[in-house]
Parts: sequence; structure tokens; C-alpha cells
Amino acid sequence: MIIREEKKREFYTVTALVREAYINADRSTGREYKLVELLRESDAYIPKLSLVAVIDNAIAGYGMFLRGKVGNQDVLILGLLAVAQSMRGHGVGGALILEGQRLARKMGYSYLFVHGSNVYYPRLGYDFAHKFGVEPPAGLDRDHMMGIQLDAQAEPLQGVLEYPEPFKILEMF
Ligand SMILES: CC(C)(COP(=O)(O)OP(=O)(O)OC[C@H]1O[C@@H](n2cnc3c(N)ncnc32)[C@H](O)[C@@H]1OP(=O)(O)O)[C@@H](O)C(=O)NCCC(=O)NCCS
Repeated sequence: MIIREEKKREFYTVTALVREAYINADRSTGREYKLVELLRESDAYIPKLSLVAVIDNAIAGYGMFLRGKVGNQDVLILGLLAVAQSMRGHGVGGALILEGQRLARKMGYSYLFVHGSNVYYPRLGYDFAHKFGVEPPAGLDRDHMMGIQLDAQAEPLQGVLEYPEPFKILEMF
């Protein structure tokens, strides 16, 4: 498996993968594939942290790490994580997260947050975001707002996690 930045010519393939992956997902709105397209055009998009997992020359998974804010501090949000239904249970999701975290540390990010499973993410070292002083925005529940501190020396956070504009435009929560 290779994990690398998505290329422009792969945008359509990745968007289709996102659409397929979220079909039966918990808390899916069915609009995740539209969200990807808007996010790529937004200030929140970080090409270096929009990662595909490639297996046998085919894209098996995608992780999109985005710019977010808590107060005036920059944080990362794992906005989408999608693995093709046929490729699940082989560590693709976990590998995308770990590579995203490694790159994020190198880029100087101190915290990463994700609204997702409170069973899946703790296995990768995540804890509830409120333990880092961070509350979800209105519409997202606290019990699924997870986070990880990437830098042990990081300044503590206090406030509400601000999501990129496309989440609001598409009423994702
Ligand atoms: C979540 C997802 C990315 C995991 O991808 P994956 O490549 O199968 O993940 P991994 O192989 O690293 O881990 C698989 C393990 O996580 C568990 N897992 C996956 N999703 C889970 C969930 N929502 N809740 C609890 N456990 C979950 C699997 O049961 C499996 O457990 P096992 O190792 O004991 O068999 C994939 O299921 C997916 O694309 N889901 C639809 C979209 C989605 O929900 N994205 C997350 C939004 S934050």
C-alpha cells in the first residue's frame, strides 16, 4: 500500500469512492461527495494532507485533513475518511490516519479532531475532544467529537471547533 497526495486527475475517481464509501455509513448525509468537491475549492483544503491509499494501482481509500480553528488557534480536522467497501478491514483507514498524523506533525500542527466513531478512533489513540478543552459546533454531538494531541508541548485549547464553510453550506450537521 502506498499513501500519497491525491492528484488533480484523480479528483473524479476519489469523489466517486467517497460517494460509494458513505452509502451505508453511520450519520451519513449522502452529500459527502459534494462536500469533497466544495472543500477542494475552499481555504480549508491542504493538498499535502488530502491522501489516497493506493493498492495494486487502484485507489482504495481517501483521507481529507482540513484547516479548522479553535478560537484563534489553527487545528486540523479529519473531515472525511473513506475506504472502498470491498477493501475494508485491512488497515487502510488506520494507515491513512497514521500517515496524516505523521505529516501533520511535520507541518507543525498540534491537534487533530474528528467527528466519528468513539470506538474506532480510541483504538488509534484518540480521546474525547472535550478532554482537550474543545467542544463541537452546534449540531454535532460531544460523544462522537474525538481528538488527538500531536505535540506534547502544545498550548492548551479552550473553545468551540470551527469547521470549514462547506460543511455549513451543505448543512452537514
Ligand atoms: C471507517 C472506515 C474508514 C474504516 O476503514 P478500514 O480500512 O476498514 O479501517 P481499518 O482496517 O483501519 O480498521 C478496521 C476496524 O475498524 C472497525 N471499524 C470500522 N468502522 C467502525 C465504526 N464506525 N465503529 C466501530 N468500529 C469500526 C472495523 O470493525 C475493524 O475492526 P477489526 O479490526 O476489529 O476487524 C470505513 O469503514 C469507511 O469508509 N466507512 C464509511 C465512511 C465513514 O464512516 N468514515 C468515517 C467518518 S469519520
